[in-house]
Amino acid sequence: MQYSSAALTVLERRISAGLARLASAGLTRRCPAITERDGVRYRVDGRAVIGLCSNDYLGLADELRPPPAAAGAGGSRLICGDLAGHRDVERMLAALIGSEDAVLFPSGYQLNLGVLPAAITRDDVVCSDALNHASLIDGLRLARAELRILPHLVAPDTIAIPEGDAALWWVTESAFSMDGDIVDIVALRRHLDRGGLAYVDEAHALGLYAGGRGLLGERDVVPSILVGMLGKSFGVAGAFVAASGPVCAWIRSRARSFVFSTGPSPLLVAAIATAIERVRSADGDRRRERLWHAVAHLATRLGVDHAPSPIFPIVIGDNQTTLEIAAAMLERSWHVQPIRPPTVPPGTARLRVTVTAGHDVAMLDAFVDDLQQLLHDARLPLVVSRGLGDPGAIAP
Ligand SMILES: Cc1ncc(COP(=O)(O)O)c(C=O)c1O
Repeated sequence: MQYSSAALTVLERRISAGLARLASAGLTRRCPAITERDGVRYRVDGRAVIGLCSNDYLGLADELRPPPAAAGAGGSRLICGDLAGHRDVERMLAALIGSEDAVLFPSGYQLNLGVLPAAITRDDVVCSDALNHASLIDGLRLARAELRILPHLVAPDTIAIPEGDAALWWVTESAFSMDGDIVDIVALRRHLDRGGLAYVDEAHALGLYAGGRGLLGERDVVPSILVGMLGKSFGVAGAFVAASGPVCAWIRSRARSFVFSTGPSPLLVAAIATAIERVRSADGDRRRERLWHAVAHLATRLGVDHAPSPIFPIVIGDNQTTLEIAAAMLERSWHVQPIRPPTVPPGTARLRVTVTAGHDVAMLDAFVDDLQQLLHDARLPLVVSRGLGDPGAIAP
């Protein structure tokens, strides 16, 4: 294939300058090549490791064996791609959450990008937590309503509900992906009770509580729109909105990433159906028990009083140092991918350590011993710090 040379020169010049900038800031990204994965044990670039950075909290990703299915939906669900499997899975998801209806998407990123602008109107006022995930930030950019960035974990109590048909939204994660802390449930109830709307992303909480529910189900809070991801504790991929019948009907008509995209592959849909059954089963209960036991053990080893999620951020700060510590851990056969800006605020690069049902106490002890030794040698403290680097009231 021959590229046009003049354009190529410009593009290559720009990109090589950009790559050099990334490298000097310690921000180069590369996909680690994973092979021979069996739960938390796999190889990274050929080296046998135990991983502590996946979102496969219940350890299901390697264990689900869905029945064979067709590969493609054949078109948008609204044209000719709406198959029985899609509708069945949406019913199963609505039953899991206890909502009237649910709408399936191929990924959580695609969902947030489409659903936020469909649900929010230009006259609304939207409050978004400062540490919300990139997909929420990008969806809100597309929604183009008045935006207030709330300091992390602060509720929009002081913000007035607009007049008329306009709404006050609170957009938040329930368990924060990079910090592992959780939304103030009492404040969320208060917000709903005074007539506010809530859009809650349960990516890192769904599946972790009794019956496979998320944090909101566990605490009996019904947000206006709940979104759940299926690539984390469900071990597959995809995402869904759970809401009232009319809200879901509106999303099927107006969320552009639903309307203008091929329906999720029936292969994916079959895997999701298998995952929902497993997550809800007695096997799911056993996995949750093992998971929370591992969470409590790691919390004790790391000197944390209470761990509200399986996510433990060990904030190092500087990008380069974080890369070096992660590389040294890899040499000792532990895979903890360094997390750097823009995934987290500048100056808060970290090892985001996650526990799953596949980790036993001996593994966690050996991991903490090695991490303690390395950080001690580098004269760095080993502390779990949640909610650091809150960028505060900065519009995205
Ligand atoms: C809070 C949150 N929302 C949305 C997403 C995107 O979900 P998906 O991976 O299905 O695209 C993620 C994934 O990292 C997430 O952590």
